[in-house]
Amino acid sequence: MLNKIIQSLEKPLLYQKTAGEFWNDEHISKQMLKAHLDPEFEGASRKLSFIDKSAAWIKDTIPPTSYPLLLDMGCGPGLYAEKFTQYGYKVTGIDFSHRAIEYARNSALKQGLHIKYLFQDYLEMSLHETFDFITMIYCDYGALSTDDRKKLLRIIYQHLKPGGKLLLDVFSKETFDSFREGQTWESCPSGGFWREHSYIALSGHYKYQDLITLEQTTIISDAEVATYYIWNTCFTQNSLIEEVNKSGFNVSGIFENVAGEKSHHNSPTIAILLEK
Ligand SMILES: C[S@@+](CC[C@H](N)C(=O)[O-])C[C@H]1O[C@@H](n2cnc3c(N)ncnc32)[C@H](O)[C@@H]1O
Repeated sequence: MLNKIIQSLEKPLLYQKTAGEFWNDEHISKQMLKAHLDPEFEGASRKLSFIDKSAAWIKDTIPPTSYPLLLDMGCGPGLYAEKFTQYGYKVTGIDFSHRAIEYARNSALKQGLHIKYLFQDYLEMSLHETFDFITMIYCDYGALSTDDRKKLLRIIYQHLKPGGKLLLDVFSKETFDSFREGQTWESCPSGGFWREHSYIALSGHYKYQDLITLEQTTIISDAEVATYYIWNTCFTQNSLIEEVNKSGFNVSGIFENVAGEKSHHNSPTIAILLEK
């Protein structure tokens, strides 16, 4: 047991993937859904007031009259997809969390909204249609490895019509600079975010080269030792533009966030609007 704990606390190679489930773990996915649906919490989705502002800016900037077919990648429980539909887009949402997609489907049904939800890994996406506009919101892009980001941009490019737009956001160098390295622990005798029953969580917060951070969490309980890796690649405007240009996209706009606020040197995020 001790050896296993010691091993699991070692810093992993860059972009090492978590061995077990995260998004589809029975307990964690329940906590994530709760976080998505909390209107005041910025854990899984942004605060509801921001999403309202953001969806309104998106519809004014990339209007449904010109870009009717919208694909929302990593749509979660459909907070954006529902607003987009109400604004007049014809929306498809894709996500690989069972719990999020199930919630999204039920919520759309209850409200009489016609949204196509697909349970699928977007890194394996191969749909028989193309879209006018693709969104990928809340910095999911930077959670991927360099190879997976390249693959994803290729897949997105294939799913866009000529002249189609892509909007995504990432964390900036400012966020990397304010990230503090260190180690923390948490005792959860009655369970918590990671597990239903008692556990201890040992976490390491590390910086890697090229503006990459890692949140490494080892869960220790009577039953197991399990480690989770949450990677985040941050960008400068230049490094982001250079990366997306390589995949054939042209930059149509750059903003502080997906609500279209003007970008400044210490913005924590960067949103980029691209054209095929
Ligand atoms: C941070 S949440 C953002 C949700 C939503 N875009 C929002 O802003 O409310 C990321 C979502 O992406 C989904 N996701 C992560 N990787 C994915 C993948 N490879 N394929 C499909 N969905 C993925 C997760 O299940 C989760 O619902």
